This record gives sequence, C-alpha cells and structure tokens, in this order.
Amino acid sequence: MKKILIMNGPNLNLLGVREPGIYGGDSLSSINEEIRKKAEEKGMETDFFQSNHEGELIDRLHAAMGKYDGIIFNAGAYTHYSYAIRDAIAAIKVPVIEVHISNVHTREEFRHKSVISPVCVGVVAGLGKKSYICALEYFA
Ligand code: DQA
Repeated sequence: MKKILIMNGPNLNLLGVREPGIYGGDSLSSINEEIRKKAEEKGMETDFFQSNHEGELIDRLHAAMGKYDGIIFNAGAYTHYSYAIRDAIAAIKVPVIEVHISNVHTREEFRHKSVISPVCVGVVAGLGKKSYICALEYFA
C-alpha cells in the first residue's frame, strides 16, 4: 500500500479563519479528512503534519526518508525564500509535490517565485483544496 505524507507549513493551521476570500472557509482538519478519505478510496495510507517552524518541517522531511512513496507539501510563505527547505527536499529520496491553495501567480510579486519548485516533481496551485487532491491523484 502506498504511503503519502501531507505537510503544511506556517499559518496553514489557521485555514478557515485566515483570509477566507483567498484560502476558503474549510479548516485544515476538514481538508485533511477529505484527503484521507480520497486516499483510502484509492488504497493509499496518509499521514499529516503541520508546523509553523522551519526546522520542524525540515526534521519531518528527513524522517520521511524510506517511509513514504510521496509527499504533498504546502510550504506556505517558506516556498518563496527557504533555501533550507529546498535543500532538505533535494536531500531526501522521496518525490515531493509543491501545492498552493491560491494561485500565487495572480498575487503579490514576492509569491511569484518558488525556491522549492526546482527540486519538486510538480506544482499544483490555485485550485483551492482540490490542489491537494490533484497531487494525491498523481501519486495514486
Ligand atoms: C500558500 C501561498 C503562499 O504564498 C502563502 O504564504 C501561504 C499559502 C497557498 O496555499 O496558497 O501561506 O502556500
């Protein structure tokens, strides 16, 4: 059975409350539950991790080595400037899909750049919570 880790970075614990016009009204736990059910339908196992701390995200990426077939990762604002997270993704031999709820390319200039895209297998952005589901379908 394929095992997929779903990771969320800073401020994504506030989904549902945080700028709902941009990120929607669903909480992270309800989105995670949808992902879990979808994965189950497809015969996959899921684990979930959220942190507001760069080092904890890096530790979780390291710990994923040899344990997961894929990682779906919304790194939040770290996407745009964390070379440490970029290097962690490059170091582990687990394919990572970068996801964003919003279409970062229609937003502020600083969101147009991702330092993690070059080390990810793909990017899904702008589809709301469906961004996570699309990434899951790729791993399925
Ligand atoms: C985000 C986009 C980022 O620019 C932002 O910092 C986030 C969320 C998204 O899911 O659309 O925290 O990754």
